[in-house]
Amino acid sequence: MKTAVLGTGMVGQAIATKLIQLGHEVKMGSRSGHNEKATAWISNNGPAASQGTFAEAASFGEIVFNCTKGEIALEVLKQAGNENLKGKILIDISNPLDFSKGMPPTLLIVNDNSLGEEIQKLLPDTHVVKTLNTLTANLMVNPQLVNNGDHDIFLSGNSTEAKEKVSALLQTFGWGADHLIDLGDISTARGTEQILPVWVRLYAAMGTPMFQFKIVK
Ligand SMILES: NC(=O)c1ccc[n+]([C@@H]2O[C@H](COP(=O)([O-])OP(=O)(O)OC[C@H]3O[C@@H](n4cnc5c(N)ncnc54)[C@H](OP(=O)(O)O)[C@@H]3O)[C@@H](O)[C@H]2O)c1
Repeated sequence: MKTAVLGTGMVGQAIATKLIQLGHEVKMGSRSGHNEKATAWISNNGPAASQGTFAEAASFGEIVFNCTKGEIALEVLKQAGNENLKGKILIDISNPLDFSKGMPPTLLIVNDNSLGEEIQKLLPDTHVVKTLNTLTANLMVNPQLVNNGDHDIFLSGNSTEAKEKVSALLQTFGWGADHLIDLGDISTARGTEQILPVWVRLYAAMGTPMFQFKIVK
């Protein structure tokens, strides 16, 4: 499948590398389309790996991952273009973190709104599915690295069909079907984005990002 990864940071690199390993084509998107980190990633990932601007990547992908910095995600997705994303699934991994006042970060959008909802409003013809934003990049694509994969992630999105397709893709990443919790429509992203203030404090307390949430009942 042709896929796009918007973002050249640790999340973009982890997702893009996993997609290549699974046999997909990946175009990594950045501001310039000639990004140094993307160039290095391509040289390690063979002919199915390519790069372009955010718009070129969005146009290329049948499914698109948003792995950009939360504070500029809406601006990046405007650049990616409504037309290029129309009718497609956008997997949103971004968090609306504000580091301008130092550590720990605060949330730019909170309580009665979420970045996931703002992205869905910006792209009304795109199926936004928020997921994977509550754990560190390496674990997103190697869930078995903690507790043999016995831990949970969440999905938020308005389209049940899109969430089913994303769940199937996540299972190819190594996630068990019973560890994917569908929370409901995109407004449920308020909950998962607001996990981040807890996540950053757990990271500080434990000194490692290699931990995860497990829901028991
Ligand atoms: N790091 C993690 O383990 C983790 C875990 C869960 C969720 N997340 C979320 O995933 C997202 C990506 O995180 P990350 O750590 O991989 O990378 P990041 O440093 O947060 O973001 C990297 C991307 O943001 C783009 N960017 C930065 N400033 C920009 C600007 N002013 N205008 C346009 N684009 C800009 C960069 O574009 P260029 O390529 O052009 O430089 C780059 O592609 C974030 O929203 C983060 O909160 C991260």
